[in-house]
Amino acid sequence: MTAIAIRDLRRIYGTGSSAVLALDGVDLELPAGSFTALIGASGCGKSTLLRLIGDLDEPTAGTVTIGGERPSVLRRAGRVGVAFQDPSLLPWRSVRRNISLTLEAAGRTVDRTAIDDLIRLVGLGGFEQARPGQLSGGMRQRVSIARSLALDPQVLLLDEPFGALDELLRGDMNRELQRIWLERQPTTVMVTHSISEAVFLADRVVVMGSRPGRVHEIVEVPFARPRAQTLLSDPSFHALCDRVSATLSAAIRASGVADAAALDS
Ligand SMILES: Nc1ncnc2c1ncn2[C@@H]1O[C@H](COP(=O)(O)OP(=O)(O)O)[C@@H](O)[C@H]1O
Ligand SMILES: [Mg+2]
Repeated sequence: MTAIAIRDLRRIYGTGSSAVLALDGVDLELPAGSFTALIGASGCGKSTLLRLIGDLDEPTAGTVTIGGERPSVLRRAGRVGVAFQDPSLLPWRSVRRNISLTLEAAGRTVDRTAIDDLIRLVGLGGFEQARPGQLSGGMRQRVSIARSLALDPQVLLLDEPFGALDELLRGDMNRELQRIWLERQPTTVMVTHSISEAVFLADRVVVMGSRPGRVHEIVEVPFARPRAQTLLSDPSFHALCDRVSATLSAAIRASGVADAAALDS
């Protein structure tokens, strides 16, 4: 029902000689309940793609549909959860009030028990009344994820949500995110720079190329869930990470070659 279909998507920023072709000819099918990781060089259009899916931006050409509808339909219904790298919590509000704000903004009734369940789900039980300033970076990220889940989203968009965290905490958060995702299974798209994070969490890794941003290759991830920490030291896991890494290098090289060709003409 909440499959995402992306057809011949293009986004140009600006006009004339300063125009930037951020995305061009992007076609993607994301099945309902799937988990997709987006990986690619900085500036290849990952955040742009996420914003177009989330109805935070409009395409120049092409379409995004979610369950057959335009993204605005789902967003207005308050069924799109978004968590970005910077958690942007309101410092004067408690954890509980930061999360309930999303529901208030969507005109929903605030069920305090449901919010406290969500706070426990992300491992922050006991911190309901704490202010963001009293929390560590990792805890603030978890508040941000709880907030994105508060509306029981059908689509979850995560833009480098753990980018600012150290490796150890990031591993904890990956396992926590998997657990949360397995409980509700929203159709999820996550941007990450970490290949192992992408392979640990996703069903498929979309490797993007740049200039213009496009889909270079899609790598399927076959590991059964739930995925345990021991998977991280499994040779098959390393082999797949190596494959994604090689694909990413090829995508970056291909973008460079395209530039050289453009200079020749
Ligand atoms: N609001 C904007 N105005 C102009 N250019 C933009 C804007 N947002 C992004 N871009 C450009 O579009 C390209 C893709 O950006 P972005 O989607 O943020 O890439 P990524 O998230 O992969 O790093 C980059 O060249 C970036 O400079
Ligand atoms: Mg980005």
